[in-house]
Amino acid sequence: MELVLFKHNRPGRAVTFEEYRAEGGYAALQRALKELAPADVQQIVIDSGLRGRGGAGFPTGKKWSFVPRDLPGPRWLICNCDEMEPGTYKDRVLLERNAHSLVEGMLLASYALGVRHAFIFIRRGYEAAAENLRAAVRDASAAGLMGENIAGSGFSCGIDIHVSAGRYICGEETALMNALEGRRPNPRAKPPFPAIKGLWGGPTVVNNVETLANIPYIVANGPDWFRGLAKVPEAAGMKLFCISGHVRNPVCVELPLGVTLGEIIDGPCGGMAPGKTFKACIPGGASTPYLTPEHFGLPLDFDAVAKAGSRLGTGGIVVFDEGTCMVGATLNLIRFFARESCGWCTPCREGLPFVREILTRLEAGGGEEEDLDILREHVKYLNYSFCALAPGAMGPVEGLLRLFEDEVREHIRKRRCPYRN
Ligand SMILES: Cc1cc2nc3c(=O)[nH]c(=O)nc-3n(C[C@H](O)[C@H](O)[C@H](O)COP(=O)(O)O)c2cc1C
Repeated sequence: MELVLFKHNRPGRAVTFEEYRAEGGYAALQRALKELAPADVQQIVIDSGLRGRGGAGFPTGKKWSFVPRDLPGPRWLICNCDEMEPGTYKDRVLLERNAHSLVEGMLLASYALGVRHAFIFIRRGYEAAAENLRAAVRDASAAGLMGENIAGSGFSCGIDIHVSAGRYICGEETALMNALEGRRPNPRAKPPFPAIKGLWGGPTVVNNVETLANIPYIVANGPDWFRGLAKVPEAAGMKLFCISGHVRNPVCVELPLGVTLGEIIDGPCGGMAPGKTFKACIPGGASTPYLTPEHFGLPLDFDAVAKAGSRLGTGGIVVFDEGTCMVGATLNLIRFFARESCGWCTPCREGLPFVREILTRLEAGGGEEEDLDILREHVKYLNYSFCALAPGAMGPVEGLLRLFEDEVREHIRKRRCPYRN
């Protein structure tokens, strides 16, 4: 199988700038600057079918096309490497192995969008990844591939690395922009969307690390090649999946979109942990509803997972074995979201702690039948919060009520958690 993002992997260390270049790195940027107009690069990305790898799966080229070409003043590109979604660690692994394809991808995206200065917003604590990025920026600048008049093309672009102060909400793109501006990181009202009015009021594109790191390969090999990488015709490209939980071998792997859940667990994960059977998983980070054994054959691509009632999200798969209390697992996730609510809007600020209290009671055996209805109402009403944090947080709760209602009722009936001795 052809690896794309992981093709430069070196055992136990990051690929160097020289090695990356020797393996074809920066050829796409140099060719694009010489032979392609910015609109051509954008069209290649549109035709490739690349969808955002940050969680929502929005088509990348389409997002870029919302940026008006004729507005005066600076416009901005931001790479989102906040990655605080529990269960998700793919961007860290990628940057610890290879920071160069992100830098090259950002320069190509900047060229397409007319951006002269781009930012990488990186999670506090990702020290090794940030160090690799700093080295990649230094090396590219020293080689004349970043900064003024890149490779003699007349195009100039710089990249700054900004370390987050460290809150989950900072990954939400408009809160991220507030954080970069030095403001309180609460989300902003949309519209206006960032493509029209974003960072410091200028047109802004926010893309995930994995999304942008794909761009050099797409420009180098063409849209048809990229579409052909996926295992199902509806999808395009490879995906980084990072698996944790009750499997034998928790691992971050690059696989074609459309690979099945069963193929991932039985393949690179080496099956379930010894003596354990699969009960459920979250497929794409903590804010995605559960999948169950009936989904083992489900192709993991954005559309198929959505049709199955969940979301591919980030591809951060957390696996639970048969001994897991799903009320307890959901409570654990909600504790995170309630703590991380930024407090900006009432439904999220008040609703998530309330849901946490109900789940705490249910898990301890003190719940009532009516709690199920109250939780269902909150799944519905928290959709009306200001940003996607609270609706995402309620994903596992919705999955719990739809797939494990019997287990919730058992807690109520027995007045205790049936998974505790
Ligand atoms: C609470 C919250 C946290 C988020 N955290 C991240 C994150 O850490 N990384 C990321 O790429 N996107 C995150 N997103 C999604 C971003 O708002 C945005 O959609 C994404 O960066 C766009 O990139 P893409 O189009 O390449 O997927 C988050 C969204 C929400 C609501």
